[in-house]
Amino acid sequence: MEKIWTEKYRPKTLDRVYGQGQVVERLNAYVREESMPHMLFAGPAGTGKTTCAIALSHELYKDNWDANFFELNASDERGIDVIRNKIKEYARTTTLSHEGFKIIFMDEADSLTTEAQAALRRTMEKYSNNCRFILSCNYSSKIIDPIQSRCAVFRFRYLNKEHVRKWIEHIAESEDLEITEDAMEMLVRVSDGDLRRATNLLQISGSTTDQITEDIVIQSANVAKPGEIKEMIKVAADGEFMEARDMLDDLLIEYGLSGNDIIKQIHREIYNIPMDNQKRMKLVDRIGEAEFRMVEGSNERIQLESLLAHFGK
Ligand SMILES: Nc1ncnc2c1ncn2[C@@H]1O[C@H](COP(=O)(O)OP(=O)(O)OP(=O)(O)O)[C@@H](O)[C@H]1O
Ligand SMILES: [Mg+2]
Repeated sequence: MEKIWTEKYRPKTLDRVYGQGQVVERLNAYVREESMPHMLFAGPAGTGKTTCAIALSHELYKDNWDANFFELNASDERGIDVIRNKIKEYARTTTLSHEGFKIIFMDEADSLTTEAQAALRRTMEKYSNNCRFILSCNYSSKIIDPIQSRCAVFRFRYLNKEHVRKWIEHIAESEDLEITEDAMEMLVRVSDGDLRRATNLLQISGSTTDQITEDIVIQSANVAKPGEIKEMIKVAADGEFMEARDMLDDLLIEYGLSGNDIIKQIHREIYNIPMDNQKRMKLVDRIGEAEFRMVEGSNERIQLESLLAHFGK
């Protein structure tokens, strides 16, 4: 079976990381000094946190990186004690490198409870003579202060459209894919600054053909055509609620889109539809409310229908 592209194309060196300039600059300095503090990598999914941790290890330890890099997932369902034991085991083995420390990379650190984080903090201190921790999280606000204050914090940003486009071009070239301009715009738009998403989308789109069109991307991404969402909003805004509701049903049932996908697309399209700015502000406010409720577990269809009802007001 073909290797998945997110692994195949993950950069092995820091200079191949896209769009995280300041982060990379600081990490390069650690490579030159052959020393580093504990670190906290915070930022959205698919922006290069794991990639940078691995690339940093490659640069520090060269061929020995595997022995000096240990990856753990904080959301290990067996809990913090299992995690601490694994760390203990790993920290006990001798350090091979002349840097004098090994790296422990912990993904999803923000999934740990406050108590578990307190335990982790003690573990970090206990092994800090020969281990450096890199904690990765989506939200640094979920990490307790005592840990934050012991770490150098690095903020990863969504990749901008230019970088996403370059990334897609880079893979397309290696894989001999031809991408129409429409398809490229759709890929960039749906990826939303997340290069993992961009990579996966490209691999799915390219699995059956090497001529990638907008339609293929739309199918692979499982998104509605922008026109259809726009049409639904317009119909709802014209007060044709029942008709808009039928269109919503199509999206949910025929296309099998999730409520979250639909609301994201509505949010995008609302800026492409001519309307009074006052009204737009009210609707954006409503979209935010509906999205929040859906994330909290409220019924998707009810939230979306309520939103359509608001469009008609
Ligand atoms: N800045 C980047 N430069 C180059 N490739 C990137 C970048 N960000 C993400 N990628 C690509 O996207 C995929 C996922 O990246 P990575 O594992 O680093 O994401 P992450 O930030 O750790 O996400 P998560 O929060 O979900 O763990 C990899 O294949 C990687 O090649
Ligand atoms: Mg990661």
